[in-house]
Amino acid sequence: MKYLTIITTIVLIVNVVHSSTIQSRVNTQSCPCSDSSWCEPIDIGERPEFMGFSVSGNQNYANYDFSKITTLASFFGPVSSDLLCLAHSKGIRVVYGTSYPVAQLGNWTFQEEWIQQQVDLVQSTYADGLNFDVEDPIYQNSSDISALYTGLVAETNYVFKKLNPNYQITVDVAWSPNCIDGRCYDYQGLAQASDYLVAMDYDMQSQMFTETCLAAANSPTAGVIQGMQAFFDLGIPASKLVMGLPFYGYRYTCIGSSASLNNPVCQIKLVPFRGVNCSDAAGSQLTYSTILSIIQDPTIKKSSIQWDSIANAPFFNYIDSNGLVNQMRFDNAQSLQDKVNIAQSLSLRGMAVWNIDQLGPLNQTEYSDLWNSINSFFN
Ligand SMILES: *[C@@H]1O[C@H](CO)[C@@H](O)[C@H](O)[C@H]1NC(C)=O
Ligand SMILES: *[C@@H]1O[C@H](CO)[C@@H](O)[C@H](O)[C@H]1NC(C)=O
Ligand SMILES: *[C@@H]1O[C@H](CO)[C@@H](O)[C@H](O)[C@H]1NC(C)=O
Ligand SMILES: *[C@@H]1O[C@H](CO)[C@@H](O)[C@H](O)[C@H]1NC(C)=O
Repeated sequence: MKYLTIITTIVLIVNVVHSSTIQSRVNTQSCPCSDSSWCEPIDIGERPEFMGFSVSGNQNYANYDFSKITTLASFFGPVSSDLLCLAHSKGIRVVYGTSYPVAQLGNWTFQEEWIQQQVDLVQSTYADGLNFDVEDPIYQNSSDISALYTGLVAETNYVFKKLNPNYQITVDVAWSPNCIDGRCYDYQGLAQASDYLVAMDYDMQSQMFTETCLAAANSPTAGVIQGMQAFFDLGIPASKLVMGLPFYGYRYTCIGSSASLNNPVCQIKLVPFRGVNCSDAAGSQLTYSTILSIIQDPTIKKSSIQWDSIANAPFFNYIDSNGLVNQMRFDNAQSLQDKVNIAQSLSLRGMAVWNIDQLGPLNQTEYSDLWNSINSFFN
């Protein structure tokens, strides 16, 4: 740990010296909003957060509940001026989800060019910052690489904040700091180097440490609590942790002789992931709106919706068009609510959702119920 902190500090110093070449390219003359103040980064200090990850916001934003979102993270590229002006009129930050090629960590030329590109993207669209989403493995034996990643985040945060202290830099992390998916990052350093971390409390079956591969919940509460505790144990304060929840689930095809509509145990095929034999890669992700359409389709043969009382989440089995038994593991308003209650009781910084395009129109009860579960964090 100490070794890592020293490296991080050195990387930080080197980076700060390097960062002098970054140019501001902000152009307020061409503000597309009816109120020119909406072209400024949102000037609100630390607040409870609801980060909405968005994959098609320019087309789909009419379906968003803007009453509680505080930060919209675009994973679809440049945000349209319509969406930007609307978000800023409501005090909502717009940031860009971004990755970085791990192989170029330590290449200062690359890093300078990359940061300049991010500054250009943010400033040319009047946005508010970045959301780092690096998910590559950085193994325990590469602590120098993980320190360089922390250094990248630290330099990026430094450069942006120097241009405007209202810019926001955040980092998405695995549900637990314990080398999940080989992601042995310097989590404490990342928390210090950024505004807050978003713990991805989904895809939590990416590595199932079980003998037999079985369908299991996407976001089981026990793991959510365990992961948060592990972040606390590293000294990361609750105020730097946001809980990310899913608006999607996993469909698994059940195999073997026990596959049946009424068997809650669903064996799945063996698909290894990063050194572990069983993985949710055996299943496929379905959006909540697709799951709902399966539930509501009377022509699809299915079990009743059951409750996994260990994971605190619903599931059901159904027969697909090929006659195969599938188990659908997902989250609904109730299972999300349970996790929001946990986030509240742990006094976390806020909530996030991957992703807010996976629900249908806000005026439908089924969808507004899910938004309301997340929004209850603010009650
Ligand atoms: C470092 O980055 C520069 C700029 O992108 C690139 O031209 C160069 O090939 C990179 N070096 C290596 C070793 O990849
Ligand atoms: C580091 O660990 C990973 C995973 O255990 C392994 O695949 C890789 O070969 C190791 N690298 C070195 C340089 O030892
Ligand atoms: C993974 O699966 C392979 C092939 O079925 C098997 O040989 C191996 O023992 C399994 N590894 C673990 C850790 O269970
Ligand atoms: C929801 O809004 C859409 C678009 O405005 C409309 O077409 C639809 O009928 C509405 N549905 C309900 C249940 O009110």
